[in-house]
Amino acid sequence: MLASTVLYGLLAFASTACAASPKKQIKYEVVTGVFAQDSPSTDPNTFNFLTTNFGLLNRTYPSDPTSPDSKYSTQWQRLNKYIKYLNKEKKTRYTLLFLGRHGEGFHNAAESYFGTPAWNCYWSERDGNSTTTWADAKLTENGIVQAQAVNKFWASLLSEQKITPPQSYYTSPLYRCLDTARLTFASLPLPKKSPFVPTVKEFLREGISAHTCDRRSSKTYIHQNFPDYVFEKGFAEQDPYWKALMAEPSADQDIRSKAVLDDIFTHDDADVISITSHSGEIGSLLRGMYTLPA
Ligand SMILES: *[C@@H]1O[C@H](CO)[C@@H](O)[C@H](O)[C@H]1NC(C)=O
Ligand SMILES: *[C@@H]1O[C@H](CO)[C@@H](O)[C@H](O)[C@H]1NC(C)=O
Repeated sequence: MLASTVLYGLLAFASTACAASPKKQIKYEVVTGVFAQDSPSTDPNTFNFLTTNFGLLNRTYPSDPTSPDSKYSTQWQRLNKYIKYLNKEKKTRYTLLFLGRHGEGFHNAAESYFGTPAWNCYWSERDGNSTTTWADAKLTENGIVQAQAVNKFWASLLSEQKITPPQSYYTSPLYRCLDTARLTFASLPLPKKSPFVPTVKEFLREGISAHTCDRRSSKTYIHQNFPDYVFEKGFAEQDPYWKALMAEPSADQDIRSKAVLDDIFTHDDADVISITSHSGEIGSLLRGMYTLPA
């Protein structure tokens, strides 16, 4: 878990995968110049995707219609056409990824309350105190409001900007992500052919530490709380990875982040994919694609 002060960050960008043969290594790259997030002049501390159209840059694409066409009047409609145009080149696959971080959880609030040293050395290894639970933390009231704001934003983009919503959805198995995804997408007027039915993927979880907020709940518990979600094949009943006082090295995290991306890209040919995960894990996913500004 990153000791990040950013409570909700969302990065959206297009990524290319050279998947000429599924047996070969898939190589990922970010297509720069489409979203403001990858511009060196964008300050991640002040960047707000809610006020900047997800960071989508106003620009022309080589696939823009040559005469006015009401089907392509917004930037999102033209981007969608551009992705289809790029995908005509068969050797490279172009996908728009929406990487959503969960809203504030009780573990985030507890870290602020106790201070990072006391949190890391003592409280984070307990399930909670006498009044608050932060093991597999749920969203705080503030975290719920954050996710609802993103839901409103998606609703306006769908109705006003004619954005193409994700065609498939993936989420971390930790409660705060399962719930953020539901609050963000479940009530939207989505196309019938691409409903909100997320797949729960073990390797989208946060970097594993001794903190109890990194221990997921059982498959049965997740199913009871999110009955419409599907589990990836082989998803275990009990968390197979979390062990008290053990931490996952970040090199290992990057390897499983690459494995989960390869799995998604090998089995899913959607043009637009949503992933709900964590700040540390999104950082790890991006490390495999893209050299982040230091
Ligand atoms: C992009 O274009 C829209 C609509 O024309 C406009 O409202 C918005 O301010 C522009 N954004 C930037 C960053 O230029
Ligand atoms: C338990 O921790 C929370 C912070 O997460 C704090 O607000 C609350 O006051 C604590 N309860 C007690 C009894 O100290």
